[in-house]
Amino acid sequence: MASYASRSFVHSFGPTFRARGGPSLRTKPFSLARYTRGYATSAAEQPRLRLGSTAPNFLAKTTHGDIDFHKFIDNSWAILFSHPADFTPVCTTELGAFAKLKDEFEKRGVKMIGLSANGLNSHDEWIKDINEISKTNLQFPIIADSDRKVAFLYDMVDQQDLDNIDEKGVAYTIRSVFIIDPAKKIRLIMLYPASTGRNTAEVLRVIDALQLGDKKGVTTPINWEMGDDVIVPPSVSTEDAKKKFADVKEVRPYLRFTTGNLNNSH
Ligand code: BEZ
Repeated sequence: MASYASRSFVHSFGPTFRARGGPSLRTKPFSLARYTRGYATSAAEQPRLRLGSTAPNFLAKTTHGDIDFHKFIDNSWAILFSHPADFTPVCTTELGAFAKLKDEFEKRGVKMIGLSANGLNSHDEWIKDINEISKTNLQFPIIADSDRKVAFLYDMVDQQDLDNIDEKGVAYTIRSVFIIDPAKKIRLIMLYPASTGRNTAEVLRVIDALQLGDKKGVTTPINWEMGDDVIVPPSVSTEDAKKKFADVKEVRPYLRFTTGNLNNSH
């Protein structure tokens, strides 16, 4: 694998240089010695992860070999989800559940990639356990992030662990979910504490909502699920909505619904 230093297009975890008024440029490789315990904990080191911002690229070792994250995403949607540690109970149930939904993610054109803060040998052993316990065959890669480089790049850390880093040793990685679109833009972020397992149905639901919105120019109301009515966004006049969509129902001039049957079924 190419070194971090030799890949200038990849986030290098290095010091930030900011041209006046311009974007920050990270040009030097990450240096463990520069930071307390090697973690990029300063604001300058932590890129802002906003909805609509480009998902930071990185190189990593995974259970499927070395990856360049942007090349891994290619032109697909992707879900990057993190776990505190291998061989922990909640994480084990989560990875088993995600593994069982392989076909659902594939139908939506979404590549899955997990992350856990341990090494490859541990991941390989843990996957055997996950498969046995959940009666599944986990097929997506899991990033070996024992040095927390990706966890810190994506701010997958708990404030308490950062504050207590000296007493507590390594910081746990929290349960983050990043949904990333084919343009590598972050479209949705979920953050759960280590104590609380995620909801795979919610992850699929928001992917459906995002993809339907992109295709059809609609938005989705509270608790929406595929097939439910959707909302005509304020940018579309009711007159135009009636030309564009079937069966427009105007509850208020600012609240218009149309049928959710927009031929986006998987
Ligand atoms: C769990 O997955 O159950 C877990 C993860 C980190 C710390 C403690 C428990």
